[in-house]
Amino acid sequence: MQVIKLKSGRKIVFRQLKSVDFKKVYRWVKSIEKEDTFIMLNAAEPVSLKEEKQYFKELPKKIRQKKLVKIGVFDEEKYLGSCDIEKQGKRQGHVGLFGIVLSKECRGQGIGFKLAKETIKLAKEKMGIKQVVLNCFANNKAGINFYNKLGFKQNCRDPRSVFYRGKYIDTIWFYKDLR
Ligand SMILES: CC(C)(COP(=O)(O)OP(=O)(O)OC[C@H]1O[C@@H](n2cnc3c(N)ncnc32)[C@H](O)[C@@H]1OP(=O)(O)O)[C@@H](O)C(=O)NCCC(=O)NCCS
Repeated sequence: MQVIKLKSGRKIVFRQLKSVDFKKVYRWVKSIEKEDTFIMLNAAEPVSLKEEKQYFKELPKKIRQKKLVKIGVFDEEKYLGSCDIEKQGKRQGHVGLFGIVLSKECRGQGIGFKLAKETIKLAKEKMGIKQVVLNCFANNKAGINFYNKLGFKQNCRDPRSVFYRGKYIDTIWFYKDLR
């Protein structure tokens, strides 16, 4: 567990998710689906309770097996989101797939930057990740600035690869070498 002090003086906590967090995380997933932000989660294709239970069940095993690092953000006990890096398979064992989402209320306060840095550091230390990759919606300006600030480089564009709010949108692959 890590206590993070923001510029505003607000303190939040980075820690691993526990099985007792399940209900609050599922409620949070529902609120993010409803927001319909620049990620795959959306209310038209909701995550079922069964799927979320399965995800939570597999989480400790994946972490133990060094296939995943995931850090949750909490304000007291309120869940605010997470960042994870999943190790890829076979010839891509040095590559980690990055994901991050925070609640709307806590964006733009430097939490995401600190959280991403910490998750990348852990992925390097615990899983030997040498390159982090991710796919960002091309219309996600905050996301693009965010990855540029973190030192990611843009790689290639997948044309019309997601259907978002009634339109086909390009996505951009980013990568960051950790060597
Ligand atoms: C993307 C996200 C994780 C960033 O986290 P955050 O805590 O809001 O970001 P930070 O406050 O740490 O900001 C870091 C940098 O990101 C960029 N950024 C963040 N919010 C931005 C905004 N609204 N507009 C433009 N740039 C923004 C800026 O470069 C910022 O650096 P600066 O403060 O020096 O200008 C968060 O906004 C989020 O959860 N968004 C919705 C889900 C999402 O888009 N996930 C990524 C999918 S690829």
